[in-house]
Formats: sequence, C-alpha cells, structure tokens
Amino acid sequence: MADQDAQSQVGSEPPALSVLRWDELPEGPAVVLLDQTRLPSEEVELVCADVPALVRAIQSLAVRGAPLLGIAGGYGVALAAARGDDVARAAELLGQARPTAVNLGYGARRVARAHGAAVGQGAGPGAASAVALAEARALHREDAEASGRMAQYGLRLLAELLPGSAHRLLTHCNTGALVSGGEGTAFAVALGAHREGRLGRLWVDETRPLLQGARLTAYEAARHGLPYSLLTDNAAGSLFAAGEVDAVLIGADRIAADGSVANKVGSYPLAVLAKYHHVPFVVVAPTTTIDLDTVDGASIVVEQRSALEVTEITSPQIISAGSGGFRPAAAPVGAKAYNPAFDITPPELVTAIVTEEGVISPVTGVGLAELCARSSQV
Ligand code: MRU
Repeated sequence: MADQDAQSQVGSEPPALSVLRWDELPEGPAVVLLDQTRLPSEEVELVCADVPALVRAIQSLAVRGAPLLGIAGGYGVALAAARGDDVARAAELLGQARPTAVNLGYGARRVARAHGAAVGQGAGPGAASAVALAEARALHREDAEASGRMAQYGLRLLAELLPGSAHRLLTHCNTGALVSGGEGTAFAVALGAHREGRLGRLWVDETRPLLQGARLTAYEAARHGLPYSLLTDNAAGSLFAAGEVDAVLIGADRIAADGSVANKVGSYPLAVLAKYHHVPFVVVAPTTTIDLDTVDGASIVVEQRSALEVTEITSPQIISAGSGGFRPAAAPVGAKAYNPAFDITPPELVTAIVTEEGVISPVTGVGLAELCARSSQV
C-alpha cells in the first residue's frame, strides 16, 4: 500500500484508452477492441471483421460493461450494414449475445432502426450503411457526454452525503473508461473526486470469478494514480465493520421500472452491508440502462455463466493465452458451480441512482418514470 500511496498523485493524466473503435482496414471495415481478457498483462487489440466475431468477443468478455456493450452492439449493426449482411438478423444476434445488460439490445436496435428508416426513405446500401455508422458514432459520443455529466452529479451528491473531504469509496466490478465512451460511470465519480483532492481511498473489490475489479479497475486506478487498495470480495464485511467505508459506488447493467438494480454479482451483499452500517449505497448509470419495460427485479434475466469460471483458479479466457493448456484447479474435476454473472439489489437498499439527467433519491418507480419522461423530452 505504501508504494501505491507514494505513486498516487493528482495532475498527471494518462492518455485516453482506445477501448473500441471503427476502422477501415485494407481487408474491409472492422470493429477494433482493446481485448479486456488480456488486461492488465497485455494491451492487445482484437479485430472483429464480422458480427459472429463480435458476438464471440462479447460472450468472452473481451468487450464488456453495460454502456460499452451498447456501443459495441451499435457498431456491430453498422458493420453488418457495411458488409451487406442481414441487418435485422445482426441486431438480433448482437442483442441476444448476453441477456442482462439492457444497453446491448438498445444499441443494436437503435442503429438497426436508423438503417431501416434510411432504407425506407429510398437510400441505397452505401447511403444506408453510412447512416447506420453515423448513428453508432452518435451513440458513442452521447455515452461519452453522459459519462461526464454523471461524474458532475455524482460529485455533487458525494459532497452532500459525506461530511469529510477524504472520501473512502468502495467499488465493485469495473465501471471506468473500459466500459464507456467516456470515463465511465461509478469510476468516473471516484476519478472526479481524486482530481478535486477529495478521494481518500478507492477500495476495489477483486470481483470473483473473472476479477474485473483486480484486473481492470485496479489497472485504471493505477493509470490515473488513484490511492487504491484491492480486497477480496469476502473482506468487504470486515472493512465496513472497521468503519473504513464512507460510501459504495457501483454501476448497473439494468435498472427495472421499480428501481431494482442488476449489477455484477456481489453488489447485493454490499448493499446489505451498507444498509447495516448506515453507509450510502449509490448506483451510477446512464439513462440507457433504465428499462421501464422490465417491471421489477424478479423479471430481470440474470446471465448464468460456465462453472469453469469458478472451478478453475483463473478464468478460461485469462489463461487461454499462452498457458500451454495447463488449467490450475480450484475444485475437483467435474465439480458443479453456481455462477450467476449478476445479482439484483432492491430499490430500498439503494440510496440514490445518479444518471446524466440528474439524481433519483429516494429510489422509486415514480421517480424513475419522471426522470425518463424528462430526458426523452430533451
Ligand atoms: O460481466 P461484465 O463484466 O460485463 O459486468 C459488468 C458490470 O457488472 C458493470 O458493473 C456494469 O456493466 C456497470 S458499468 C457501467
């Protein structure tokens, strides 16, 4: 911890990460991703030249996190259009690649709709595919802008909720530039606090089993020189008991109409701990993550992932690169495992939801519906 503290400093900003971009390669158009399964060991790009390749990248979590999945879905549909593939089928395949993050289907459908409208107005394949790409780019840009506004609202909320100036914030999973067109959701708020000299410590849950906290959030925190410490997910309880957590900040994959929040598995236990210890539990998510068509938490489809992610020491995709086929075992061969990717936190455990359109607190269905109605009028 001493070394990290010595390194933590405000002022020196790292170059922005190139997490996802559209490229016109000599062999054709492509969606180029920073392969998140290889971080933090290697910064390697993954070229997706067609929709099946992008679907595989989404399912292996080479690209992940709700807002970025929306952007990937949008560019994926633009890619299908540019290749002359079936756009409606591409939108369906991409939208179904993972079930929980609502942004994925939103991004894919939005770009497919723009393409369909252009075709409906008589545009030829080239012009319609240009419209699809422009729509994907607009979605990308809007997400970056939303990220900046969420950080501002989140910082204002923290100033109201927390009396001291050296906030000790606990976060789970990864919510930074690696999930966003901008600097992220919850992480962007922590980063803003750091820039204002108000971050005492960022506690980073390692986030079993795929280690998004240890591999990705710690990577982003280190790049920005944040004072951070990793903890195993199971250590959060004793950290709260020791009075070391001032607030929990997390993102969301889907927020149902009643305010229930689906986020990375392990979020719900943190909300219970926060309630018990009278610590604010704050969710930071763009309005594209709010799904008024899903009535409540019980209606959210939670992705179930392979048992291997639990029964092997590191996830299959992490060791797939150059491990010589050796898979260290965490459990006897054939062990069954319960491996939901997400859990649901009921609204009564959530202190506030921070969006780019403002803050909802207390979290109620009425508050969410009003915020969504306001934002759709803008
Ligand atoms: O399975 P992942 O890594 O895609 O899960 C990501 C998360 O749960 C994030 O916390 C969530 O997408 C919010 S990021 C804005």
